[in-house]
Amino acid sequence: MSFTLIVRKSPPPKGSVTIPGDKSISHRALIFAALAKGTSEIRNILPSDDVKRTAAILRQLGVVINEFEKFWTVHGVGLEGLKPPKGDLYCGNSGTTLRLMTGLLSAQGFDSRLTGDDSLDKRPMNRIMRPLSQMGARIKEERQGGKRFVVIKGQKNPLTPIYYESPVSSAQVKSAILLAGLYVSGATTVKEPLPSRDHTEKMMQSLGLDCQVRGSEATLKSTTPWEGREFVIPGDFSSAAFPLVATLIHPHSSAKVILRHVGVNPTRLGLWDVLKSMGAHLKMRYHHKGPGEPVADIEVIPSKMQGIRLDKNHIPRLIDEIPILTVAAASAQGETQIRGAEELRVKETDRLRALAHEFKKLKIPIVEHPDGLDITGSTNWRGAHCSSHGDHRIAMSLAVAGMIAEGTVRIEDVACIQTSFPNFYTLMKSLGAVMEEKVE
Ligand code: S3P
Repeated sequence: MSFTLIVRKSPPPKGSVTIPGDKSISHRALIFAALAKGTSEIRNILPSDDVKRTAAILRQLGVVINEFEKFWTVHGVGLEGLKPPKGDLYCGNSGTTLRLMTGLLSAQGFDSRLTGDDSLDKRPMNRIMRPLSQMGARIKEERQGGKRFVVIKGQKNPLTPIYYESPVSSAQVKSAILLAGLYVSGATTVKEPLPSRDHTEKMMQSLGLDCQVRGSEATLKSTTPWEGREFVIPGDFSSAAFPLVATLIHPHSSAKVILRHVGVNPTRLGLWDVLKSMGAHLKMRYHHKGPGEPVADIEVIPSKMQGIRLDKNHIPRLIDEIPILTVAAASAQGETQIRGAEELRVKETDRLRALAHEFKKLKIPIVEHPDGLDITGSTNWRGAHCSSHGDHRIAMSLAVAGMIAEGTVRIEDVACIQTSFPNFYTLMKSLGAVMEEKVE
C-alpha cells in the first residue's frame, strides 16, 4: 500500500490551530517517566509513529504504558527496574529512539539489540558509540542479511565518568551520554561546538537532578531517584513551522493565522530568528517563560521577505527546519545561501540532495553544494510529480510549496508524515489548504 498526497493551489491560510505535542519532548517524557518511582501522567504527548516506537521498546523492557485519549500513564520502574527484553528492539524510522535508548541500555546489566528501518540502518552510530565505549559500555554494530544491529552487552561494572567534546552539535548524542550518565558515580559532561536542543537537561532539572548547563557544556553531576509526576508537552515548534511558513509566503493574503500552545524553547527557535531577519511579521502572545519549557501562541502575518546568508553557526538551532526554510527562501526576493549544513545529509534522507532534486521539478532555482544550498526566490512554481524520499519533513515542505504552485503537486510516499505529524492534513485543511491523500 502506498500513500500519495495531492496538493492544489490553495486560498490564503486563515484561522487558528493548536499545534500537536513536541516529538523530542514526548520521547524524553516517556523515558524519564519509565525511570521514575511510581506513576506519571503525560498530557498532550505526540501520538506519532516515532514516539510509539519509544513506548513499545519501554514496554519490552517491562514498563507498563497505557494510552488514553487525553493522556498516557507510565508506571515507572525506577532507575534499576528495567527488565531484559525478549527479542530485538525495533526503532522504525526514529533516530531519537535509537540514539537515546542506546545510551540508556549501555548502562544496564542485561544484553540488548536495537535495529530500525532501511533509512535508520544507514544513519551514523559512531558518534554515540565512541563516547559510550569510552565510558566503558560494550557496544558494537553488526550487519546481518543487509540489516544493521546495534548490539549492547550487559554491564558488570558501573560506567565511568566522562568529559566528552563532541565534534557535532547533536542533542541525540548529548542525550545518549547524559542518559548513560544517570548510572555513573561522578560527573558526566558533554561539550558541543554550539548548543543543541536542551530538553534532556531541562527535564533532568525539573526532576530535581543536578544537571548544570554553561554555554554549550552540559554536566550531570549526580543522580537521585525521582517520583512519577505529570508531564505536559508543549506543541512542537518544528510542526508549527509548516503552517507558519504556508501563511507567511502566501502571495494574496492579509489574514493572520494563530498557532496555539507552541513550545518556544530558545534552542529550537533558529527558524524564528532567521525568518524575522528575512522580514517576517511574527509575534508571540501569552508567552509563558517557564520554569521548564517555555510556551506561547504565535501570530503569523503574511510578509514580503528577502533572501539571507546562513552559515554553520545558524544550523543547530534550525536543524529540522531547513527543508521548510528553503520553501520560504524560494518565495523571498533575491538569493538565500545556506552553508555548514552537511548534517542534513545524514537525516531521514539526504535532505540537501532531496530538496535540490524536488525543487528542480517545481522549477524553483536551486543549486546544491557539499554543505548547503543556494535558492533564488521566484514565482510561478509549477505543479509536478514529486517524491518524499521517505522523509516526513521533505513531504510536508513540498506540500506547503504545493499550496502556492500552479497546477497540482503530487507527492508520492507520504506515510512517513505519521512519524512526526499525524494530523498534518487535517490541520492544514482547517486553515484552507486544498490537499487530499490517496491510498494506492
Ligand atoms: C532530536 C535531535 C536532532 C533532530 C531530531 C530530534 C532530538 O537530531 O534533528 O529530529 O530529539 O534529540 P541530531 O541530534 O542528530 O541533530
